[in-house]
Amino acid sequence: MSSTNTILTQLTTTPKEKPTVEQLGFGKHFTDHMFMMDYTIEQGWHNARIIPYQPISLDPSAMIFHYGQSVFEGMKAYKTPAGDVQLFRPERNFKRLNISNDRLCIPAIDEQFALDALKQLLSIDKDWIPSEPGTSLYIRPYTFATEPFLGVAPAKSYHFIIIMSPVGAYYSEGINPVKILVEKQYVRAVVGGTGEAKTGGNYANGLKAQEIASKEGYSQILWLDGKENRYIEEVGSMNIFFKINGKVITPALNGSILAGITRDSMLHLLKSKNIDVEERRITIDEVVQAYEEGILEEAFGTGTAAVISPIGQLKWQDTELTVNDGQIGEVTQMLYDTLTGIQNGTVEDSFGWIVK
Ligand code: COI
Repeated sequence: MSSTNTILTQLTTTPKEKPTVEQLGFGKHFTDHMFMMDYTIEQGWHNARIIPYQPISLDPSAMIFHYGQSVFEGMKAYKTPAGDVQLFRPERNFKRLNISNDRLCIPAIDEQFALDALKQLLSIDKDWIPSEPGTSLYIRPYTFATEPFLGVAPAKSYHFIIIMSPVGAYYSEGINPVKILVEKQYVRAVVGGTGEAKTGGNYANGLKAQEIASKEGYSQILWLDGKENRYIEEVGSMNIFFKINGKVITPALNGSILAGITRDSMLHLLKSKNIDVEERRITIDEVVQAYEEGILEEAFGTGTAAVISPIGQLKWQDTELTVNDGQIGEVTQMLYDTLTGIQNGTVEDSFGWIVK
């Protein structure tokens, strides 16, 4: 092992074959190296290291397996046409990782150190960043409890790991509009729960409804609030936006909705284009009414993985709502082109979002 800025680095002696663009998909292939560090009460976060990508060994009683004390982030690195490597608002992801850590009683990481570690990892695995349109290197930082103990309490030891995966489109539909089922029975999160944190339990909780929706031919679930079952919260694992009568509306952050970084970026982009935008509560009834009045113009989900996923059809109870004739809307397309352009270096970044 050799030491670089307190991060020990051990390079692989058996580099893997890189996938072709056709093989990419989402989250199936992993780069040659990973970042890892450990936490103990006595030493805090320590033993930062970049090592060959490999399985990790955990005690069967490690608390992560039993009580789900774990959080994660998702971010992307891009290769520009000039061959530069760039990250999109990475400081936001590490900040949110700590917000999630706090909610799950996991000790905070040093955000600047984590970003520096990521940059080192990227410089080692930069040849894994695909450059074809629609591709990127998805980065997954995560923290989790490792203490071998079956009592319900915050653990005394943790790992922080960063792995990276060259990816294409998250949904097989890509940027094509998808069919969404508005969920009546299950809820994703409640105010006061963990909906605002990026923790695995929120996603595990959504699987049952997603499974039923898939069997009925829908791509994803539209989640309503857990109290009154009428306010719109999220779609699949994304934030949601509607364009109604010229105005773009997204549910206001209320404690049970994830504060998406793509969501925030969309709000900035919309305002910069002088498009009216509102963050407020919106009910499914308002959306149905807008549809009936012919003013439901566009609907789309936003997230790091998919960037934008246009909604072509919504099913609520017995009503099927077709949005924009099932075609991608003008504002949706503009947002997708502008944001992906900034991310991959083909559109000027007038917001200061890019970190080289
Ligand atoms: C995102 O798009 O930001 C996500 O969190 C999706 C991920 C769960 C695959």
